[in-house]
Amino acid sequence: PRILILGAPGAGKGTQSARITEEFDVDHITTGDALRGNKEMDISDMDTEYDTPGEYMDRGELVPDKVVNAIVDEALSQADGFVLDGYPRNLEQAEELEDMTDLDVVLYLEVGEDELVHRLTGRRLDPETGDIYHVEYNPPDDPEIEQRLEQRDDDTEETVKERLSVFRENTEPVIEYYDEQGNLERVDGEQAPDDVWEEVTETIERNA
Ligand code: AP5
Ligand code: ZN
Repeated sequence: PRILILGAPGAGKGTQSARITEEFDVDHITTGDALRGNKEMDISDMDTEYDTPGEYMDRGELVPDKVVNAIVDEALSQADGFVLDGYPRNLEQAEELEDMTDLDVVLYLEVGEDELVHRLTGRRLDPETGDIYHVEYNPPDDPEIEQRLEQRDDDTEETVKERLSVFRENTEPVIEYYDEQGNLERVDGEQAPDDVWEEVTETIERNA
């Protein structure tokens, strides 16, 4: 299936996408991870305000469309089934995506703002496996893993606030856009991960 997963920063897109990838044997296309792997890439020739993606990301701002569209176009051309996470984040990207591919399911993970802040500031990542943890909700059992966990550069309180405001301003219109097309599937993302997963699988199976 071709799956789009939408949601605010911290809604659980990455957490659910990891499970979707395994269960449905699709590629995980995530602009956030792709950009984090290329934070120092020179984009100064693309007529941008800053010279690297990292400068936008550490401020919580969107990386210019030109850069991100190219990443997604390339990844989609190599994928059969996929779960797309982190894109589109504004209406221009949504229109771009429409020219690139069709979608079977558009999922929207709904989570309230207080919970989002709590999830983001408590998030930890395993740099060796990429696995996502949370200091309270999902700590690792293995002390060796716990030792090496890292915090994402943009999970500071200040940058989180900016990311949430960028979401409200730029990405909420994208949610309305899919809602108006009549194919938005709302999932209550505030439940425990396993309960969210149950709704997610049920919705994908119904649409794929
Ligand atoms: P990106 O990496 O896409 O970040 P984001 O959208 O802010 O989303 P997150 O990855 O923070 O959250 P998530 O929904 O994946 O939640 P997770 O599963 O980790 O983008 C980063 C930056 O890159 C952007 O700010 C921008 O600069 C740039 N960028 C990316 N795409 C772009 C684009 N298209 N255009 C322009 N710029 C772009 O979960 C969060 C935490 O909650 C974890 O600790 C997890 O363990 C926990 N958790 C998850 N689910 C639950 C649950 N059900 N209950 C309790 N805890 C839970
Ligand atoms: Zn993510």
